[in-house]
Amino acid sequence: MTTAPDSTAAAGTAPVAPAQLAMLVDCARAVLANAWAPYSDFRVAAAVLDEQGRIHLGVNVENASYGLTNCAERVAIGAAVAAGAKRILAVGVTAQKLHPITPCGACRQVIREFADADAPIASDAADGTLVICTAGELLPAAFLSLVQPA
Ligand code: THU
Repeated sequence: MTTAPDSTAAAGTAPVAPAQLAMLVDCARAVLANAWAPYSDFRVAAAVLDEQGRIHLGVNVENASYGLTNCAERVAIGAAVAAGAKRILAVGVTAQKLHPITPCGACRQVIREFADADAPIASDAADGTLVICTAGELLPAAFLSLVQPA
């Protein structure tokens, strides 16, 4: 878990400002080189902002058996939960590719476990382009067994 020194992240459910989203992606980019991706050579890093204003980081962790690969987003969410986070207010993702990437289907479902449908997901490209969408746009009609807004 890392908290950016200049983080202005507010605790609670206040909307996340664009500058905070850019900062979240910056935090992810800072650990991209730590990704363990010797099989795909496709490095991904993620940062999640929790309801306490803390930032948790993750990178993809591949495995010789391929199927045991963990995506960066789910690694970051696991770190958040281990640190006591209850909700996720925003997610930043980076792979530093030509186009911004979006979380895979499995990660979308896991993000929605902790994030409201309007939670922003920000992703950058190598040229710095930042694309922002919401968790609900990425996974409409998500399966949620707990009582949460659709
Ligand atoms: N990957 C992620 O870490 N996050 C995603 O949302 C998509 C894919 C990783 C898994 C694998 O290690 C590599 O990217 C190529 O699929």
